[in-house]
Amino acid sequence: MLLKGKNIVITGSGRGIGKAIAIACAKEGANIGLTSRTIEELNETKKEIEDLGIGVKVIIKPADITKFQEIMEAFMTFHDELGPFNGVIANAGYSRMWTTHEFLNEKFSEIMDTNVLGVFYTFKAAYPHLKKDDKNDKARFIITGSEAYPNAPPKFTAYVASKYAVVGMQKAMALEYKKENITFNMILPTQVDTRALRGKKAGDGNKPEHVLNPWDLNDYYLFLLSESANRIDNALIFTYDINEAKKLLFEAPSGNKENWEVFKEYFKEKAPKSYDKVKNLGKLIDFIINRTQ
Ligand SMILES: NC(=O)c1ccc[n+]([C@@H]2O[C@H](COP(=O)([O-])OP(=O)(O)OC[C@H]3O[C@@H](n4cnc5c(N)ncnc54)[C@H](OP(=O)(O)O)[C@@H]3O)[C@@H](O)[C@H]2O)c1
Repeated sequence: MLLKGKNIVITGSGRGIGKAIAIACAKEGANIGLTSRTIEELNETKKEIEDLGIGVKVIIKPADITKFQEIMEAFMTFHDELGPFNGVIANAGYSRMWTTHEFLNEKFSEIMDTNVLGVFYTFKAAYPHLKKDDKNDKARFIITGSEAYPNAPPKFTAYVASKYAVVGMQKAMALEYKKENITFNMILPTQVDTRALRGKKAGDGNKPEHVLNPWDLNDYYLFLLSESANRIDNALIFTYDINEAKKLLFEAPSGNKENWEVFKEYFKEKAPKSYDKVKNLGKLIDFIINRTQ
């Protein structure tokens, strides 16, 4: 098991992407701290993990990510119950679409508070509990960003501002904590079939083809939490680019896809632009190859 005995805390883990990550980490043997505002959804995630019968610990603590006191108390509970954190995933997020000059001031603030202040609070509350005593097994701080960076879709001004902001925050923190055995990395998904994108229709089985399932992202988070990513810092993993690589991997004749070293030559020749975007993420491609074999 990839994460046996590790302690992973995930915000926004009652549903959507966070829930999928939580289940994936538990399947790999990690103990899990779950938090969001809706206790019923947290209980549901916990139950789904416990029903797997793996025997990992699952602790839930509701908290509003925009309230530092609440998130600090949640993380203290996770630390008391689990011990130091090997990984923290700042995933909770919120978005609304509206014409910018008519956008409600309160909504703009709410989006910034959740997506920017929330990431800051998550890190600040987590910091005292991160396991940072081993340079060969660094603590991982992972942010769920968005393809809104750098695509900037119109009418999503607040969301775009928030997702640009966290890219800057990651860069600053990666530099600031370089000597402390913490890495900072980000997954930047395209559209995913969750409540944030499709409202109550999420998970109805009728998503457009280009929209990903929440669990399609699991390998990216698992990779960043794994031994293979110990030295990867301040990476931006765009799911669109990796998906292009995955499509090509699927089509590649055997002999061209056994590992990154052989695949990269084929990739470079067939799709040079996509190759350029992922050429620094060979370890991730290797990870994906190993998991699909
Ligand atoms: N779905 C997409 O197409 C997409 C694409 C790119 C990036 N993302 C990013 O993916 C992340 C997860 O979103 P999702 O798509 O999985 O949406 P989702 O299904 O709506 O899940 C969002 C999670 O965040 C929690 N949350 C929201 N506001 C919160 C607050 N103030 N305090 C604590 N928790 C809060 C929600 O729980 P409560 O409401 O119960 O608090 C929920 O568990 C977000 O950062 C989002 O920006 C999503």
